[in-house]
Amino acid sequence: MMRLDKFLCATGFGTRSQVKELLKKGLVKVNGDTARRPEQKVDEERDQVVCGGKEAVYAPYTYLMLHKPAGVVSATEDSRERTVLDLAPETYRKDLFPVGRLDKDTEGLLLLTNDGALAHELLSPGKHVDKTYYARILGQVTEAHVKSFLEGLDIGEKRKTLPAELLILRRGEISEVEITIREGKYHQIKRMFQAVGCQVQYLKRLRMGTLVLDEALPSGACRPLTKEELRALKNVDDQRKNSIEPAERKDTEQKGKERQNG
Ligand code: URA
Repeated sequence: MMRLDKFLCATGFGTRSQVKELLKKGLVKVNGDTARRPEQKVDEERDQVVCGGKEAVYAPYTYLMLHKPAGVVSATEDSRERTVLDLAPETYRKDLFPVGRLDKDTEGLLLLTNDGALAHELLSPGKHVDKTYYARILGQVTEAHVKSFLEGLDIGEKRKTLPAELLILRRGEISEVEITIREGKYHQIKRMFQAVGCQVQYLKRLRMGTLVLDEALPSGACRPLTKEELRALKNVDDQRKNSIEPAERKDTEQKGKERQNG
C-alpha cells in the first residue's frame, strides 16, 4: 500500500504539488470513486487509479533511453557540470542513475534507470555486453587496424583489450568507422585509436546490447523504453547477439549443442 500522491508521482503524473492540484480538481478516481485526499492509501497492484481519464500503471522501476548530447557528464550529481540526470523529467529524477558512463564529449545512447540489478547485469565485466559506436577518426583507418582491433590492443592495462570489431565506413584523412567493443574501460575507444596512432574526433554510442538509439529521439531528450525494448534488454544472454568473435561463438554454440545432445 502507498499514499495516493506518491503513487501518482511514481506513475508519471507530476510532482507532489502538481498531483495535489489534480486531486483538488477532482480529476483522480480510485476504483471509480473521485479521490481528493493525497494521503489516501492505495494498493498499487490491485486498485484501479485513473487520472484525467488515463490509467496510472505502477511499475517499480523506471527505464529511460537518453540521447546524450555532448557537454553533460554521466553522473547523478556534480557541483559544477550539468549531468545526464538534469535532462530527465523532474518526476523521474529522484533515484535514477546512468547505466555506465559516456565521456563528457561523447554523444548517444545512455540508459537511465533505478533498477540496480539490471544495471549490474549489463555492466558486469563477465557479461561482455556489446556496445557499438560511430566514430570520426583523425587519420587513415586501414584493414591492418581492423585486424589489430580484432586481435586486441595494448592500451596500458594489465591485459590487451578484448576483440573489437571495426567497420570502416569511409577512409581518408578523416575516417569514419563503426566500432563494437564489449568492455567499458576508461576512455577505451579513444585509447584504442591512440594505440594505433589515430585520434578520435567525434564519438556517438548507437547501441548497447539489444538496445538501439532511437534516431527519432532528439539530442538531449529521453523517453521510456518500450515493453519490447525492455523485454529484450532483460534477456541478458541476448546482449551479445552479434558477437564479435565468430570462431569463438561457433565453438561455444557447438559445445552448447553437444551438451544438449548429451
Ligand atoms: N570510449 C571512449 O573513449 N569514450 C566513451 O565515452 C565511450 C567509449
